[in-house]
Amino acid sequence: HIPQQAILKEVGPRDGLQNESTTISTDDKVEWINHLSETGLTYIEITSFVHPKWIPQLSDSLQVAKQIKRKPGITYAALVPNQKGLERALEADMDEVSVFMSASESHNQYNINKSINATFPVLQQVVSEARAANKSVRAYVSTVFGCPYEGEVKLEQTLRVCDRLFDMGIDELSIGDTIGVANPIQVENVLTTLERYYDKNAIALHFHNTRGTALANVLTALQCGYATFDSALGGLGGCPYAKGASGNVATDDLLYMLSEMGLTTEVELPKLLQAGEFIQNKLKKSLPSHQMQMVNKG
Ligand code: HMG
Ligand code: MG
Repeated sequence: HIPQQAILKEVGPRDGLQNESTTISTDDKVEWINHLSETGLTYIEITSFVHPKWIPQLSDSLQVAKQIKRKPGITYAALVPNQKGLERALEADMDEVSVFMSASESHNQYNINKSINATFPVLQQVVSEARAANKSVRAYVSTVFGCPYEGEVKLEQTLRVCDRLFDMGIDELSIGDTIGVANPIQVENVLTTLERYYDKNAIALHFHNTRGTALANVLTALQCGYATFDSALGGLGGCPYAKGASGNVATDDLLYMLSEMGLTTEVELPKLLQAGEFIQNKLKKSLPSHQMQMVNKG
């Protein structure tokens, strides 16, 4: 009952670059995203419209969004925390906006400076206005599998946040292992509970690979019938407000595994690796994914 097809959502330009200390110029970001658009990816989260003081790496979001070449068939998305962010995302003519909050109270507070209860009305307004502007909306729930401040996060906390987000009218929910602590048994528990309440096709998984468990977690999610995965090329990424969070599962490693398993995706590995070489040259470091390490060893 493993799905025959998987959908990869590239978050490297946002989740990856937000956590890199090397500053990438706007022109280089634009060129990289244009490379990514040629790999067969159908979804790219290109930036975020958060406060530039909180994430200086992405403070050129508007310029990036305006300068990239939009390829038909690709959804170009950006992270939006509030009304102010939505205004900028609409000005940038994003196809999709992604709101975000956490299942745990303290991560929500550190990341977006509000309690969980105070976040709901802010996101409700963003979702309603984005939909009125004919944009699709995705929502992230962070810290589902563990919180850097609180440790264990109860599934009831996650369900409460998911319920509220779906009630707001979102199109897709991305379940986040923000600090990469999840294991396959836990993933199975969470996903078999979620499927009692929500459509599997409306759920994506967002695994970070901090402790090397991300691909195992992906396999478990596939076996539970889920087919949409967020990933970052080369394993770039993290969350600056979650201590110890490292990169997302690497798009290239994920793609290798899926295609060897016989799943189809739209993405072409050689082109992806070329786009990986481009950004690692700009970052002046080698990317941590296994595929990129093989490229680098020649
Ligand atoms: P705040 O300071 O509480 O905001 O920050 P505020 O509403 O009180 O406004 C203060 C000032 O900020 C005002 O300006 C606003 O206009 C301005 P002033 O009147 O003082 O001159 N402002 C903004 N400026 C630009 N863009 C905006 C914006 N909003 C307000 N959007 C806020 C609240 C949410 C803005 C802040 O906490 C923030 O930007 N946080 C972002 C944190 C972040 O980006 N974290 C990483 C992304 S989440 C993640 O990585 C997890 C994920 O990958 C999933 C997973 O792995 O689990 C998605
Ligand atoms: Mg993340």
